[in-house]
Amino acid sequence: DKGNHRHFMEKEIHEQPEVISHALSHYVDFTTNKVTTQPGIDFAAVRSLAISACGTAYLAGLTGKYWFERYARLPVEIDVASEFRYREMPLSPDQAALFISQSGETADTLASLRYCKAEGLKIGAVVNVKESTIARESDAVFPILAGPEIGVASTKAFTCQLAVLAALSVAAGRARGTVSEAEEIALVKSLIEMPRIMNRVLNAVQPQIENLARDLSRYKDVLYLGRGTSYPLALEGALKLKEISYIHAEGYAAGELKHGPIALIDENMPVIVIAPHDRFFEKTISNMQEVAARGGKIIFITDEKGAAASKLATMATIVLPNVDEIIAPMVFALPIQLLAYHTAVFMGTDVDQPRNLAKSVTVE
Ligand code: M6R
Repeated sequence: DKGNHRHFMEKEIHEQPEVISHALSHYVDFTTNKVTTQPGIDFAAVRSLAISACGTAYLAGLTGKYWFERYARLPVEIDVASEFRYREMPLSPDQAALFISQSGETADTLASLRYCKAEGLKIGAVVNVKESTIARESDAVFPILAGPEIGVASTKAFTCQLAVLAALSVAAGRARGTVSEAEEIALVKSLIEMPRIMNRVLNAVQPQIENLARDLSRYKDVLYLGRGTSYPLALEGALKLKEISYIHAEGYAAGELKHGPIALIDENMPVIVIAPHDRFFEKTISNMQEVAARGGKIIFITDEKGAAASKLATMATIVLPNVDEIIAPMVFALPIQLLAYHTAVFMGTDVDQPRNLAKSVTVE
């Protein structure tokens, strides 16, 4: 049932504050502002973490890598499952592995899991479908509690995966002694605040994004740039846009601009720059200047501080509230999802069932 939404995707985008709040209640305590203990993987005892997944779930994992390394000082090896399973990488039982999958049935992710299991690693599954094969074959199941996701383009599963990975990385940091109790409380408070902020953002940016989507639908190529955790988000933005609007889109780490993609910049390829005012901001702005200097059109997705700090002319600037660094990926995911959604709606594509795609990829 789509309720009063035109598509499941739209419904699922708008459900995010509610489902994330539900997911978080499983991982953090809303009264003490602390993480709750999750059975299954002893993060204090492992030497490193291997993460494997496909598509959007992989991009959630890539964001998780930044968090586990930063907060838990836990080295993370991550790859798309179709490469991971064949790489013959050296693994040992003092490592743990996380497999992220909405459906819990993705063939390559399952094969990677079985490979790690055979090597004696502790296996954790970050899944939406709790009765899935990936969940059943894991030592620890970390449900994302997003509820059924019908749209082929993943939205609420992505942000719920992020919320769970963020909470797990803080839990791992506590277990490993790299996050203090005060830091834990501050990080968990930010996570708890997030659904309310997401609600506000969804309402605030909607009209502007609909207008922008009309403009964007006229282009054939779009580039997304970001640094730090905004880099996986740039990849996710490009994936979402290409999946449902069929516009060719690429995501790049902003620092890679001059190593290749800058050659493509002209007035026919809008560049979507994702840049909250974080420790990477100045660097990303200088990349944005390089785009502007070559006549590139910029769609700037930033926060209030970022908007005040940049003087560059843009095709559009989407201003989000200033938020703590740990929740920025979930909050910034919203305009990215909405932009892809409304662009596809303008182009009249089958948003919930895009051509050539299946919701669950159970063949290799
Ligand atoms: O069910 P899974 O999370 O394992 O699926 C992984 C990918 O197939 C999936 O995320 C795909 O990339 C989506 N269509 C993205 O919107």
